[in-house]
Amino acid sequence: IPVEPFDLVVFGATGDLARRKLLPALYHRDLAGQLSDATRIIGVSRRRLSDEDFRCLASDAITGHGDEPDAANLARFLRRLCYVAADAGADDGWPALAARLAEQPEHIRVFYLATAPELFGPICDRLGQAGLAGGTGRVVVEKPIGKSLASARAVNEAVGRHFSEDRIYRIDHYLGKETVQNLMALRFANALFEPLWRAAQIDHVQITVAETLGVEGRAGYYDTAGALRDMVQNHMLQLLCLVAMEPPASLSADAVRDEKLKVLKSLVPIGDGNIHERTVRGQYRAGASRGGPVPGYLEELGDPTSRTETFVALKAEIANWRWAGVPFYLRTGKRLPARVSEIVAQFRPIPFSVFDGSAGPIEANRLVIRLQPDEGVKLWLMIKDPGPGGMRLRHVPLDMSFAKAFGLRNPDAYERLLLDVVRGNQTLFMRRDEVETAWSWIDPILQSWAANPEPPRPYTSGTWGPSAAIALVERDGRSWYEPV
Ligand code: BG6
Repeated sequence: IPVEPFDLVVFGATGDLARRKLLPALYHRDLAGQLSDATRIIGVSRRRLSDEDFRCLASDAITGHGDEPDAANLARFLRRLCYVAADAGADDGWPALAARLAEQPEHIRVFYLATAPELFGPICDRLGQAGLAGGTGRVVVEKPIGKSLASARAVNEAVGRHFSEDRIYRIDHYLGKETVQNLMALRFANALFEPLWRAAQIDHVQITVAETLGVEGRAGYYDTAGALRDMVQNHMLQLLCLVAMEPPASLSADAVRDEKLKVLKSLVPIGDGNIHERTVRGQYRAGASRGGPVPGYLEELGDPTSRTETFVALKAEIANWRWAGVPFYLRTGKRLPARVSEIVAQFRPIPFSVFDGSAGPIEANRLVIRLQPDEGVKLWLMIKDPGPGGMRLRHVPLDMSFAKAFGLRNPDAYERLLLDVVRGNQTLFMRRDEVETAWSWIDPILQSWAANPEPPRPYTSGTWGPSAAIALVERDGRSWYEPV
């Protein structure tokens, strides 16, 4: 179903995010027939480009994204594109942008800030001065929203001066992933899990987001962020919220966000008193990744003194009625052995065994939600090994693979999220209080690490992080579940 006609203004239109994600995502939605004929995409950046130059850049971005677009479809998409050169630090260009938008005043206006966060405030000021921030116009902001609670508040204030909260869309692209949305379906469209989804039945939860890539061309940004800010403050805490939240009253944006906020507010603080038993940070050294040798982080960065973490493992706890005492082990890192993200709910063991020793060990049930790749859900159960050999038990998965069950192309998260902005649906976007509450949990961890003279622990590229990350879980008599 096509969405209403809109004008999408992409600031930072020549940058990495626009080329890798936004333009290909819009192209795919056009292909699916969801962009109405009059919909336009207006690229903005400081570079002096013509409309034609921008269309060439977009064409390269779409072709370079692994698509082999059909010429007619691509040409139709490119006709939607135009370009305005404007700089948040100068007056030039803003009247031209206003004039372009004035051509179709009835269109929904979306301003996508795919720029450095320092520019969010200045761009919104310019939009305000040009009279473009009013009406139903919406603004989309990308992470990182700040580097700390104070800076996140400053960004939120600056954007909030021109756009009301119901017109601000803070993107966390993990929320647009099919499998992440499926978490809500799994939890709230099945009666089976809810009675078990609590401390009495669940021993612990593991959330792993592993990448094989290093920092690639982003070392400049990454070195000022590190894994805790880059992945945990946003994506991983959002996943934790979706696993742990109470059933919302509805799927309306505020109903869902209220429940996530309660989880964030219930996180047990980590800081000076418990930093060593609760967190491990690591930094990759040279090693092997995907079959070839790779340099270490410090060599890639060209700065041997950096203490930025490229890996973090931590033990979070949620102090509420449902989850008290259940550890949520989180780990994420670059240059790990596989690109794999998954959530594991490990159930408690059976209270008593009626089987004798010849049946073999009885393993506890486990629900594994594979977010990417090979998206699917596995529920591990004990069954009788078939055959006449007596009662021997085996741990096997009930296995639901999205590819096998549906065989469809898995849309990129941005495709869903961009159209949700046009539809005015904020359910999969973060509210200001969520972002700030997440920062208020992250800040003391960052401060404790900064005050600690020990650098991050080294780990060899292509391994599962420093051995201390294994010890973090083994100290509790548990172990990381290796994704297979
Ligand atoms: C981004 C981080 O938000 O998420 C990157 O800044 C990371 O460092 C990326 O690589 C991971 O996203 P995905 O969708 O590839 O899992």
